[in-house]
Amino acid sequence: MVKITIIGVGRVGGALAIALSGKGFEVENLVVRNDITAYKISEFIEPRPKISTLDEVSEITSEIVFITTQDFEIENAARKLAGKIKNSKPIIFHTSGSLSSEILRPLQENGCLTGSIHPLVSLSEAVLGARRFASSYFCVEGDASAVETARKIVEELGGKPFTIETKHKILYHASAVTACGHLVALIDVAIEMLTKCGLDENSAKETLLPLIKSTVENLEVQTTAEALTGTFARADVKTFEKHLAALDESVSDEAKEIYLQLGARSTHLAERQGANAENLKEIQAKISLAKKNFKC
Ligand SMILES: NC(=O)c1ccc[n+]([C@@H]2O[C@H](COP(=O)([O-])OP(=O)(O)OC[C@H]3O[C@@H](n4cnc5c(N)ncnc54)[C@H](OP(=O)(O)O)[C@@H]3O)[C@@H](O)[C@H]2O)c1
Repeated sequence: MVKITIIGVGRVGGALAIALSGKGFEVENLVVRNDITAYKISEFIEPRPKISTLDEVSEITSEIVFITTQDFEIENAARKLAGKIKNSKPIIFHTSGSLSSEILRPLQENGCLTGSIHPLVSLSEAVLGARRFASSYFCVEGDASAVETARKIVEELGGKPFTIETKHKILYHASAVTACGHLVALIDVAIEMLTKCGLDENSAKETLLPLIKSTVENLEVQTTAEALTGTFARADVKTFEKHLAALDESVSDEAKEIYLQLGARSTHLAERQGANAENLKEIQAKISLAKKNFKC
């Protein structure tokens, strides 16, 4: 049985402990600051892991260590952990999306292989989270042998590993934030517009959800250019002008700016669809003019 230690037993650490124990890994240690959650998590794990603080651990004997603390605690935990690496040299991973394996350098200097394993999934709670890994994508990077081990762990969890170069880790994270958090913010802009039509916020969200879902479903089988529908896909100058006038009257400058910025991007997708080039140029010119007024 491969032995693992998990440092930081929150949403991700707890979920990994439960999921990996279910896949035949031995969770040797749960390293905590506050042991209440860890005791709850340990009830799902056989054999029961040791629960201790990092100061109480004298030596790491597990083959694999996951640092699943908050991002801002990883460096500190790695530095402390370096003092506990003695005879055996575990492979050490963290699970942050925005930080690369470079933050684990003190452990590399102690002879450990290091890497990061970032599950591209939202985990709001450990027990539920343990079931979310299957069929999720995981971004793995780091030392070549650590990446190989990371891929095997992800596959054991039923996930799909992919690798990027370490230098691209922060750009990768910006992409994830754009697809996830920014999507929510964008929907909030659409809700703002719909509330100006008389719907309350909740009804506006409910009303938009089937439209959003159908768009996401189209993206499952089409490229972004193919999936674009609406005014920009039709290169419909007149409707675009009416949108601008209505937005001017009704919504915040921020919402209008977002409409314009994404409108410009949509014209490029429409070009790829083969929409009327002349009309698209006209829309692009009007967007540039309107953006100048916003200085965006
Ligand atoms: N949640 C997600 O959806 C998600 C998804 C992908 C990746 N991630 C990444 O996974 C990592 C963990 O995120 P999370 O959401 O699981 O955070 P979390 O729920 O806040 O859990 C972090 C845990 O680490 C503990 N901790 C902090 N410093 C410690 C130390 N020195 N020794 C022992 N325990 C320590 C914290 O204890 P306290 O309670 O005392 O602070 C907390 O229990 C982050 O790098 C995050 O970016 C999160």
